[in-house]
Amino acid sequence: MRRNRREDWCRRLVREHRLSVDNLIWPVFVMEGAKGREKIAAMPGVDRLTIAELVKEAKEAAVLGIPAIALFPVVEAKRKSDNAEEAFNPENLMCRAVRAVKKAVPEMGIICDVALDPYTTHGHDGVVGGQWSVGGNHKTTAPRPQAADVNNDATIEILCRQAMAQAEAGCDIVAPSDMMDGRVGKIRDALDEAGYSHVKILSYAAKYASAFYGPFRDAVGSAGNLGKADKKTYQMDPANSDEALREVALDIAEGADMVMIKPGMPYLDIIRRVKDNFAVPIFAYQVSGEYAMLKAAAEKGFLDERAAMRESLLAFRRAGASAVFTYGAKVVAGWLAEEKG
Ligand code: PBG
Repeated sequence: MRRNRREDWCRRLVREHRLSVDNLIWPVFVMEGAKGREKIAAMPGVDRLTIAELVKEAKEAAVLGIPAIALFPVVEAKRKSDNAEEAFNPENLMCRAVRAVKKAVPEMGIICDVALDPYTTHGHDGVVGGQWSVGGNHKTTAPRPQAADVNNDATIEILCRQAMAQAEAGCDIVAPSDMMDGRVGKIRDALDEAGYSHVKILSYAAKYASAFYGPFRDAVGSAGNLGKADKKTYQMDPANSDEALREVALDIAEGADMVMIKPGMPYLDIIRRVKDNFAVPIFAYQVSGEYAMLKAAAEKGFLDERAAMRESLLAFRRAGASAVFTYGAKVVAGWLAEEKG
């Protein structure tokens, strides 16, 4: 077996999988403000960006050849409410960011997260309880709601409005990451009826209730809202794998154009099973906690950052992912360009 590994030219010839800039999606945190950026403690090298900074960075990402960016908003506390009305405000931060990037860098694909957690006072991805009405900012003195209370169908109505606002702003892919049942079909219908039949749906089909989202929740400022609550009644149990196949089958039937598996590295087996069972593009997410682990180990000198990051991203490709969301996308794209010479 070692004959084929003997020279670099031969290793290149027999190589089965490759990582290219074409496989990278760059997730970005967007915040209010005229200019500037803010560091995120647990994510070295990742900043929250104002729209002006985002536009600059998106231009650079396009020059590097990154096909798409994914936007996540840091919503001001005063704009959060129990029913997340800000999520579908056409002038909200996300919609303004989408318009600004589309105008400056029209060739860049834009992916918008569809979920209510940045907008809810309780930090859940949906609305809580049986009653729901748009318009009021219902301050409640009731105890912090538990995940079991998240109202599936009431949430979907708001998700549809959120997706429509994003589509209207010019977003190319809406990405429901909330894990409500039946939302892909409803969002597809809503988009088609409103004339947005070209807008794609990237469904977070198998999204696990994971401890690896910690730094993300700090980055968008939803950790404090969620408190000690968890998302186990809507996100998947990390113990399950068959269930991921059911989730993917449903989302494809409802009209998903691509499916997401998340988190990434601890769930490569899920990517592989989905790849073997369905002919659908699979995207994977190297989530905030995975990025934080790599960066922290590299900072301590325990790992070679570049080699470890490259290897982990290649592993996603080998498992069957077409594209990978990674906070390191720009840095990695720079390395890839350098290696090409
Ligand atoms: C929220 C959302 C989360 C992430 C992406 N969208 C967090 C969560 O579900 O609590 C996590 C991404 C990451 O950790 O990098 N709908």
